[in-house]
This record gives sequence, structure tokens and C-alpha cells, in this order.
Amino acid sequence: MLTLMKPGIDEYAQSKSEPTSALLNSLERETHSKMAHWQMLTGRLEGRFLKMMVQISGAKNVLEIGMFTGYSALSMAEGLPVGGTVTTCDIDADCIKFAKEFFARSEHGHKITVMEGPALDLLKKLEGPFDLVFIDADKPNYLNYYEAILPKLKSGAVILVDNVLWSGHVLDDQITDENTKAIVAFNDFVARDERVDRVLLTIRDGVFMLRKR
Ligand SMILES: C[S@@+](CC[C@H](N)C(=O)[O-])C[C@H]1O[C@@H](n2cnc3c(N)ncnc32)[C@H](O)[C@@H]1O
Repeated sequence: MLTLMKPGIDEYAQSKSEPTSALLNSLERETHSKMAHWQMLTGRLEGRFLKMMVQISGAKNVLEIGMFTGYSALSMAEGLPVGGTVTTCDIDADCIKFAKEFFARSEHGHKITVMEGPALDLLKKLEGPFDLVFIDADKPNYLNYYEAILPKLKSGAVILVDNVLWSGHVLDDQITDENTKAIVAFNDFVARDERVDRVLLTIRDGVFMLRKR
């Protein structure tokens, strides 16, 4: 098997991508210093990818499942046109407080609406249609989120699903914890789902890019 990736490639890709704003850099730094699970933040390369996806898809209404400290929500808001919206959610009140402080300091913050509570409950209240959805919350619910979201999308809308390689655990049959099993089951299901066009990208921890047919 040809191995194309060398150590340091992610950093190289990041260094050649559009620089991030001072505010996003500060959000990232504070997340690292103040939040126990700082590694959940998507980071610079994937953040630029999300912004680019919003731009090239022409999305106006974006939905995010799993906001954490707001890095991905703010990255996507940067890519929206005037009048565009990001609706995002989280169950953690501390994360919401943290993120809102940064949104208030951003010229794009007014585009973001934050909802607090379990995403599956909130999804019942949201009609859509959404143009682009980023799924990045609890892994055992990935398939439930997917099925709840698909009817709220028009043909051509995009779904991006994060962490679908799960640090490479998807390749290891010996790893059978709940999160790994859920991601493997999600990937297997989507790989056969004719309702979507699909490509699994190896950006960071893996992003499944889906387009509703
Ligand atoms: C991986 S982090 C999201 C990272 C974020 N997208 C970013 O780029 O910084 C996952 C988030 O999902 C939230 N979460 C977990 N279960 C949830 C649920 N049932 N409903 C909504 N949010 C949930 C967690 O509190 C956590 O903040």
C-alpha cells in the first residue's frame, strides 16, 4: 500500500491555508487553557474547510449539532453572506456561556443562534430547510441525527459529519466501545444509503461529506 501522508503534513496544510482571525485564535487558546476536553475543538484546518464549504455551497441556513466553545460555528458564520444564519446547539451550559462571550465580540456573531438542550429534542422544533449541516455531538446518536435531519433538507443540501475515522479505531475489530461501534455502524449505513451522494474525507479525524439527492 502506498503511504502518501508523512508526519507534519497536517501542519503544512494548515500553514498554506487561509489564516484564521485573531478572535478565533484567542477562542482556541482559551479553550485549551480553560476547558477539560479542549481536544474536541475542530481546529484551524477543519475550521477553514467548514468556512469554505459554506462559501462554495452558497449556504444561507446552516445547522450545527454540537457547538462546544463555538469554534466551528464561528468559522461557518464567517463564510455566510449577509442575512445568513447558523443555528447551533449544545447541552453544556458552561460551553454555551463561553461561546456566547466570543460571538458577542465577533462581527459575525449576530448570525449565530444558540439553543440549549439535547439535540434530538431541539431538532423536533426546527423546521428547516437547512442548506448545510455539521454533525459533531455524541457519537451514539449520529444515526438518529442523520435520520432526523434528512427530511429537513432540500435536494442538493450538504451534511458534514465529524470524527468518522475516530482516531483510526474504525479499522480495529478489537475496539468495541460504544462510540467506536456507533461510528462504524453509522459509516456502514451511510455507505449504502442511496438517498445521498457520499465521500469520506481524511481531514483531521475524518469528515463524511454527504449531499442529499
Ligand atoms: C466534539 S464537541 C463539538 C466541537 C465543536 N463543533 C467545535 O468545533 O469546537 C461535541 C459537543 O457536543 C455536545 N453534546 C453532547 N451530547 C449532546 C446532545 N445530546 N445534544 C447536544 N449537544 C450535545 C457536547 O457538550 C460537546 O460540547
